[in-house]
Amino acid sequence: MSIQQGSDNQNQSIHGLWTNRWMFVLAATGSAVGLGNIWKFPYITGENGGGAFVLVYLLCVAVIGIPIMMTEVLLGRRGRSTPINTIRRLCDEASASRFWVVIGWFGMLAGLLILSFYSVIGGWALVYIPNAMSGMFSGSTAEQVAEIFNGLLASPGTLLFWHSVFMLMTMTIVARGVEKGIEKAVRILMPVLFVLLLVMVGYAMNLGEFARGVAFLFKPDFSALSANGVLIAMGHAFFTLSLGMGAIMIYGAYLPKDVSIAKVSIIIAVADTLVALLAGLAIFPIVFANGLEPSAGPGLIFVTLPIAFGQMPGGVFFSTLFFVLLSFAALSSAISLVEPVVTWLVENKKMSRVRASTLAGFVIWCIGIGTVLSFNVTSAVTVFEKTFFDLLDFIATNIMLPLGGLAMALFAGWFLPRLISADELSMGQGAGFRVWWFLVRYITPCAVVLVFLNATKII
Ligand code: PFF
Repeated sequence: MSIQQGSDNQNQSIHGLWTNRWMFVLAATGSAVGLGNIWKFPYITGENGGGAFVLVYLLCVAVIGIPIMMTEVLLGRRGRSTPINTIRRLCDEASASRFWVVIGWFGMLAGLLILSFYSVIGGWALVYIPNAMSGMFSGSTAEQVAEIFNGLLASPGTLLFWHSVFMLMTMTIVARGVEKGIEKAVRILMPVLFVLLLVMVGYAMNLGEFARGVAFLFKPDFSALSANGVLIAMGHAFFTLSLGMGAIMIYGAYLPKDVSIAKVSIIIAVADTLVALLAGLAIFPIVFANGLEPSAGPGLIFVTLPIAFGQMPGGVFFSTLFFVLLSFAALSSAISLVEPVVTWLVENKKMSRVRASTLAGFVIWCIGIGTVLSFNVTSAVTVFEKTFFDLLDFIATNIMLPLGGLAMALFAGWFLPRLISADELSMGQGAGFRVWWFLVRYITPCAVVLVFLNATKII
């Protein structure tokens, strides 16, 4: 077990501490690397025109993502509790209004909403494991692969079943406690996933359309990017790094005092970004080589990768391995989405972890039914031209997470005494600290507000 039990030392989480910084990096990377990188990044990049979108996303990771990640970790480590209790403690320490506790409440809600649809997509990854094993994709054409995926979407029963399996797996791990569930699997599987993605990029290089894929990803064409696209790029920077809702804050609560927050944050952000870019590099050459549309939507990886697997030597093995790894990556992220709620129920409502997990899991499962149905029975029911799934994703990812991040930046930049931040970041008052301070005080809040105003066409 990698988390030591907490002592009654006031400055230590009641749930213990990571034994070293690598355990934290692994758990936080496990949270960050997930469906967001492999499923979502390629499809939203495809929907928003490619290069310019990628550039804005990368900028958001650097200018907003890394400073907010440092902020979340520092708040978590200082407060050593669930996001709500952490912020409450820090408000008292800083003699600031308790209003800021809203960050914790808002974050818990965002986590519940995101997991409700995340789990349905996690279910897609799960059902593709037996599909891949059965050799279903061997020699398949693009049409046959699309048919398999459309058949899945058209079946609410199958979607509900796999959504239920995914939720059950997540909540079982959570009920057993953070320390036992996460890190063992992540330690082995993350590197394997990385290598497999490299193999797939290697395969894509031989497809003939690799250069076109690279150009699509990295050659910015700003005429293809709308104001809404910029908002989606920013929302995705939060989503992919697990920021703005307290997931990273709660992992920070278990971080030993002597670890450099700046270093670990940069490592996590770089690893996460690399995985997303590799996924893009593997997928777009397949899209172009098979005459598919980059803007195919949420099914993009499920209708492209199986074509490649169906043609490559050892495809059954590689495809099975890929969907197993994708499912694990999704699970390690799902765990962190629900962790703030479960720990809060344990700390504040004195529930056992099992009870808290069952309750939270049931509520999330119920909301997830809305997403299941939005791909079939209620697919024609739209609000602002969005189905239930699209709307939920849009509100939680593009509005709630950036708002949560904005509030954290304002709290740390304007209300938390500078000395406390400097003490936690352990960077002294030198250039590194001043860059962070400037970013969270001015740049991050302004960037988030500008993107919001831009997307609502106010400016
Ligand atoms: N970062 C995860 C992904 O990219 O799949 C999703 C996620 C996990 C978002 C945890 C938010 C969060 F708090």
